[in-house]
Parts: sequence; C-alpha cells; structure tokens
Amino acid sequence: MKKYSEIKKEIRINTVKKTNEGYAYFTHFLHNKKEEKISKYYSLRAKKFIENNFKQSFSKYEKLKLRFDIPFPEPKNPKFTFIDLFAGIGGFRIAMQNLGGKCIFSSEINRFSKKTYEHNFGEVPFGDITKINEKNIPEHDILCAGFPCQAFSIAGKRKGFKDETRGTLFYDIARIIKEKNPKAFFLENVKGLRNHDKGRTLKTILKVLREDLKYYVPEPQIINAKNFGVPQNRERIFIIGFSKDLNIAEFKYPKPLKKKTKFYDIKEKNKVSVKYYLSTVYLQTLIKHKERHSRKGNGFGFKIIRDNQCANAIVVGGMGKERNIVIDSSLTNFTPITKIKGEVNRKGLRRMTPREWARLQGFPDKYEIPVSDAQAYKQFGNSVAIPAIQITAEKVVNKIRQKIIFSKK
Ligand SMILES: C[S@@+](CC[C@H](N)C(=O)[O-])C[C@H]1O[C@@H](n2cnc3c(N)ncnc32)[C@H](O)[C@@H]1O
Repeated sequence: MKKYSEIKKEIRINTVKKTNEGYAYFTHFLHNKKEEKISKYYSLRAKKFIENNFKQSFSKYEKLKLRFDIPFPEPKNPKFTFIDLFAGIGGFRIAMQNLGGKCIFSSEINRFSKKTYEHNFGEVPFGDITKINEKNIPEHDILCAGFPCQAFSIAGKRKGFKDETRGTLFYDIARIIKEKNPKAFFLENVKGLRNHDKGRTLKTILKVLREDLKYYVPEPQIINAKNFGVPQNRERIFIIGFSKDLNIAEFKYPKPLKKKTKFYDIKEKNKVSVKYYLSTVYLQTLIKHKERHSRKGNGFGFKIIRDNQCANAIVVGGMGKERNIVIDSSLTNFTPITKIKGEVNRKGLRRMTPREWARLQGFPDKYEIPVSDAQAYKQFGNSVAIPAIQITAEKVVNKIRQKIIFSKK
C-alpha cells in the first residue's frame, strides 16, 4: 500500500510555484481511478502529464493500492457525488463529505487556496472555471458553488441565459448545470446579492435557473451562521435547486437551532503568540478612527468581542480583523517578536488567530493551515460557515433520497 504523501513527493506537487493543470488531472485521477465512468475524464491527460514530465510508467499508478494520508479523506462508502466549484479551501467539501458525499471535481483559481486545499484533501483543484469546458466535468449528483460576490450587471433585455449572463461567473455555473443536469445545486453568496442592482441581478439568476434550466428553485433564504452552531454573525444567501426530473415541489430551509454558542467556546485555551497583540500605537489609531466615525454618527470602527458574545462576520480586507478584537490576559512576556510601533498593549487586546477564524467558520481543529497568517485570514474570511452549509445540505440530500436512490451506493 502506497501513501499519497509519497506520491506527492515523487511528482513534486507545489501549487504555488507550478500552475500546470496536469497536477489537477493526476490527483483527480488518483481519487477516482476505481470508477471508470469518472476516471475516464482524467486518465488520458493524467497519463500524458506523468509520462512527459517524469518519464515514469503510468500503469504503476493505475494499479496502485493507495492510502490518502491527509486530514480529510473521502468517506469509506460514499452515498452520492458532488462537485466543488469556487472551492476556496473546501468549506463545502467538508460539509458534503460529512454527509457521505464524494467529491469528483474541484476548481479554484487562487494558488495559495489550492495549496491549503491540496494539503487537506490530497487533490489539486483545476484552475479558472471560465476556461473549463463543461463537457469535461463528470456527471454528479450535487453541484456546490460558493461563487464570488463579484458585482455584475445583467442587462435583462436579451433572451436566454447565454446572452444575459455571459461574462459573469454565474454564467459558468449555469452552463455546467445545463450540460450535466445534476439532481440538485447549492449556491452560496453574500446577502447583498438580494438587493444588488435593485434586485434585478437575483431576479435574472432565478429566471435563468427556473425558466431556462427548468429547475425547481424555492425562494432563496438568508441564513445566519450564528443560528447553526458557530458564534459568528454571518448572513449569507443560500440558493437551492432541484432538477425537474425529480418532481420536487417543496423544500424547507432549516430552522435556527435553539442552542447558541459564544466566542469563549472557540477561544484559544493556550497562550497565544505576542504577535497577535495590538501595539499601543495601533490601538490609539483604532480608537481615534472610531471616535471620528462616531462623531459622524457611524457605527464603524474596531469592536471588542467579549467571551460571552458572538463575533462579527469575518471578512477579507476592510475591518475584518479590527471588528473582532478580543481580550486575553494570558500573555506574560510582552517583548514583541515582530516590528511594531510603540509597545505591546497591557490590556490584553489582541486579534483573533487564524485558528479562531477557522473555528468561527466551523472548521474542525484537524484542518491544517499550511500558509502564512495573511493568506490564512484571507482564506477563512472567504470561506463558508460549514455547519450552516451542512445542515442545509442534509435537507437537500434527504429530499433527493425520498425520490430516488443515488447513482452511487
Ligand atoms: C467566496 S470564495 C468561496 C470559498 C469556498 N466556498 C470555501 O469554503 O472556502 C470564492 C472563490 O472563488 C475563487 N475564484 C474566483 N474566480 C474564479 C475562477 N474564475 N475560477 C475558479 N475559481 C475562482 C476565488 O479564488 C475564491 O477562493
């Protein structure tokens, strides 16, 4: 039995340095080689990649008994298949794998996110989705896409989704749905999508999904992560759809759970590095900034999250970190280890750590972070809150199961 980590060394996977799609073909092949109807999408290009670049025989990999020594291997007896579009670092993937799903295709453009993804799932995602022919994606049960909140204007005049949405990333989702007709899809986006362009953007999206693609799409729902097991006030829009072949005419989004969590539940219990503590100079800047804004009547600025409170949404850029300052008095050595202005504050004020951000999104602690803090904040801030996704996806899976037996037993 060979370990994935050994193969990884053999072919020198490095998503940050090398962007060759061959790595995506080859790792997708390794995950799916037992299933001919899936592996046929990957085997030819994987073979060429190995033979051309490593002068090795491909058949040795075809026959291989392989153990994925990674934090999140796929479930032993998968019950359904899914694809992970705009995969980021795999928030959707964890939720779907927890429900017994097997991922058979992933795509993500950012090389640092790819690095984190490969590290945890043993698969290099394909790159830019706009360059991927929908015919080259295997048939799957559920399409998942937390697509970027890229603001786009949709003309809304011309006919058909091709003309109306071309040039947007939603168009790429739509063309894949059209070609592959998955049993269901699960799309996620920022809450602001609802009101973008006076509601016209969402209206067009729904029109494409319902009228052009003929999916049953119940009214999208705004779901707040804090109601589903994490102490983070994060509202997102969820859009679910079912293929018309299933004859589903009713779907209920999950109701908020009674049990609420608080920041303390996910707070680091061990001493945290001094690098996360604010310098006195930076703290002064934050206080002044907040005062300036509150004089103008704005609620902007930094915010201290107490142990018994719920965190603000973690976001990329902006005030994502500053709106989630916490008090942690466990620090005893105040000597800075990074270049700072002034000295380390003595009030115990610090930023949340990347691990705390991971927990706010429901990532289990066995999720490994192989990138810098700056990349990690970006990746977790961009990700989905896993528990909210999982509870909703479970309803989707159950709904389909009432109608049919999944193709993959
Ligand atoms: C909102 S994030 C989704 C994160 C993901 N759901 C997760 O749990 O980590 C959107 C992702 O889409 C990726 N992306 C943007 N444009 C893309 C493209 N053309 N092809 C593939 N991925 C793209 C971004 O790099 C980003 O990671």
